[in-house]
Amino acid sequence: MHPFSGLIHAPESLIPAARTINPPTYRGSTVLFPSHADFVKAGQGEYDGITYGTDRLPQQRILESALRDLEGAALTRVFPSGISAISETLLAFVRAGDHVLVCENAYGPTLRFCNEVLGRLGVTTQTIPPDAGADIAAYLRPETRIIFLESPGSLTFELQDIPAITKIARQRGIVTILDNTWATPLYLDPFELGVDVSIHSITKYICGHSDLLMGSTSTTEAHAETLAKAYACREIYAAPEDCQLALRGIKTLPLRMKQHQASALTVAEVLHDHPLVDRVLHPALPSHPQHELWKRDFRGSSGLFAFTLKNEYPESILGQFIDSLQLFGIGYSWGGFMSLITTGQPKRGFAGPLQGKTLIRVSIGLEEPADLLADLEQGLARLAG
Ligand SMILES: Cc1ncc(COP(=O)(O)O)c(C=O)c1O
Repeated sequence: MHPFSGLIHAPESLIPAARTINPPTYRGSTVLFPSHADFVKAGQGEYDGITYGTDRLPQQRILESALRDLEGAALTRVFPSGISAISETLLAFVRAGDHVLVCENAYGPTLRFCNEVLGRLGVTTQTIPPDAGADIAAYLRPETRIIFLESPGSLTFELQDIPAITKIARQRGIVTILDNTWATPLYLDPFELGVDVSIHSITKYICGHSDLLMGSTSTTEAHAETLAKAYACREIYAAPEDCQLALRGIKTLPLRMKQHQASALTVAEVLHDHPLVDRVLHPALPSHPQHELWKRDFRGSSGLFAFTLKNEYPESILGQFIDSLQLFGIGYSWGGFMSLITTGQPKRGFAGPLQGKTLIRVSIGLEEPADLLADLEQGLARLAG
């Protein structure tokens, strides 16, 4: 054989089989069939192996089964971002003419997708209060198909009464979807609370290292076929290297979450008693108006919370506080090892005494809490002066 042909057809015996702890990263469009008979079987939908790159390569399948088991779900699929998991899932379950309810404190792009994309497809979206519960009944129409929840909302931290909502939804055959990113699969079990579909932005805690974008959707048995069929049609799959990184992240999730939880609570408690701070919005603090609901449904809390100040400051003065922080990066997203801080004035899901207040949101990372507190103290002191 000419050496050039040899380059293309390297004998398989030259590929050393090494049992590394981590699975090898498979990259591929074409996946070779063992035989013509298997190829024919694949055409008839009777082949058990992987048929093509879009048929979910091994890393993706391993990640999906890890998440499925962690969530106690029947089926899990991963997507190239959290928002694509959300939008693809909504697309999988709606039909033209449907009515969709979304909690007011949901991640902004979720609502934008519902209004702008589903709206064009003949689906009507209506928001429900950020702390909705059994009062959801008043919002239901004969054509209500989906109730989309995010509890707590990742900006304003109101909780929905999930079991009260899912009880009503089940009676009426309405599909409930929960964005469970804040609690992770470890600290809230959506299926135990009657939710049909659980979504995570893997980008946050499951990855944990701020180096990829990914999302997941997991369902109960009753909804597995709908998701699997929609996924197979759309083929919005995840990149092999990202799946590999997410698999690395998920292995340390329990350890990291313990630390995020403990550090965030320490910081939140000190901020709660700080003379310049008005309110700390953290469901695991007894001062949170829905703390009892949190205690009933959640097994823990994560590192993301917000606070408001007693006084409002001009942007330039607030900027001096934020810019002085050495350990808090200024940037979107959360759930990684580095602490982050952002400010904003949410227009939705921010009622009563919080209206018009600047919300300061922190994602507490894996730095020592004493160092984070010292950093925040020196920053807040600039506001006092
Ligand atoms: C609660 C929540 N869900 C979903 C997303 C979207 O995730 P991604 O950034 O992976 O698209 C975010 C992003 O910030 C979020 O905060």
